[in-house]
Amino acid sequence: MDKFYHIVTYGCQMNVHESEKIAGILSELGYKSCPCMEDADIVVFNTCCIRENAENHAYGNIGMLKKLKAKKRDMIIAVGGCLTQQIKKADDLHEKFPYVDIIFGTHNLNKLKDYIEEKRKRKKVLIEIEECDGTVSEGDKPFRTSYPNAWVNITYGCNNFCSYCIVPYVRGRERSRKSENIIKEVRSLVAEGYKEITLLGQNVNSYGNYGADIPFYELLDKVAKIEGDFRLRFMTSHPKDFSEELAKVIASNRKICHCVHLPVQSGSDSVLAAMNRRYTSSDYLKKVDILRKYVPDCAITTDIIVGFPGETELDFNDTLELVKKVDFASAFTFVYSRRDGTVAAKMENQIPEEICKRRIMELVELVNQQTRKHSAKFVGQTVNVLCEDYDGKRGMYQGRNEYGRMVYFKGECDLTGQFVNVRVEEANGIALIGKTV
Ligand code: SAH
Ligand code: SF4
Ligand code: F3S
Repeated sequence: MDKFYHIVTYGCQMNVHESEKIAGILSELGYKSCPCMEDADIVVFNTCCIRENAENHAYGNIGMLKKLKAKKRDMIIAVGGCLTQQIKKADDLHEKFPYVDIIFGTHNLNKLKDYIEEKRKRKKVLIEIEECDGTVSEGDKPFRTSYPNAWVNITYGCNNFCSYCIVPYVRGRERSRKSENIIKEVRSLVAEGYKEITLLGQNVNSYGNYGADIPFYELLDKVAKIEGDFRLRFMTSHPKDFSEELAKVIASNRKICHCVHLPVQSGSDSVLAAMNRRYTSSDYLKKVDILRKYVPDCAITTDIIVGFPGETELDFNDTLELVKKVDFASAFTFVYSRRDGTVAAKMENQIPEEICKRRIMELVELVNQQTRKHSAKFVGQTVNVLCEDYDGKRGMYQGRNEYGRMVYFKGECDLTGQFVNVRVEEANGIALIGKTV
């Protein structure tokens, strides 16, 4: 009889790709994917802890499984990812949800097969969290679920220790894969028909500093020179490591999308210093100028945090000013969330919730204005879209242009995985709507 798995993923693209690796392990064990938790023989929660609401979201969903587990006693529930990797969180989780069978961390995902086999033999709960031993994961066999896009890790971990951020504590020290392994992986993905490759790392620009043989701009250049019909993206770039050489490489090869995610976090120099970002707002603006000098049409997107401890009205205004100056194509905006174990968690002057709420609303309003303006620029233009999927609700295909804008359009036959030219007729917030030409 067939056995089924269901994976619930929270958090960043890194986690989305790691869920594909978990799916690969489960497929090797003979499980097949199923869309409903109720039908699954094993449910895996791949968690995130970047902000409190990401944690609460996972807790809520794991809690809802209690009734199902009481009915389906043989169902295995496993929880892994960044949440469990935090100090003491695995034990807390076990206390809160004693019916969870396997708790694993970010550094032992590739042992999940052994844990499941052991769990099937012995009924005991398995709590297995390991510390980072510096290993660079190779030879994973992900079960990819996002054709025509494929994610490729180039670095793991983070050494930046931004004072608000939990990632360095749960993902370990930064380490890079060897360039030849990355190039080999991309070559085979392109040969398999993947049309968009995204190189992944917490800070791709520092690839080369920790164990790699070449700097990031050289890696990007080499990957872009791989033969075949594909687009290349990378994320995330830390502004302090964004170099002129990198801007030149982006400009030199049309396979590299003119779209760079460059998280600024704040426009205030004192907040940036307290965040340990190691650049000032004018350093950031210089990087933007360099990028626009070589790639004038580049869509620059960002992440911004409001309500960092000690953020004054003046600091917040500096952020608004910087957003106006850069004119971001779009931005992810967050209210600061206190994370135990980080340096900022111990800072005095945590900002009250009402102030954070007002600031985020003001910022979102400004960002939305800019996003709408950037979308409106495409109306009347023909854009090249990589068709990703069919959106049943809208009755339209969907895909992105090279600037990362979602485009919806009608099509006669299955266009998934094809590059299509679409004439944009309408802009709707962050999305564009048009017709194939
Ligand atoms: N490594 C990437 C992304 C890290 S997480 C980078 O450095 O850009 C994605 C975003 O979450 C960050 O850019 C930051 O804006 C936000 N973030 C991280 N920790 C946070 C916290 N404690 N509270 C609110 N937002 C946070
Ligand atoms: Fe977190 Fe900073 Fe590392 Fe990004 S660079 S993961 S924000 S510590
Ligand atoms: Fe979340 Fe971990 Fe990514 S904390 S944002 S899943 S690296």
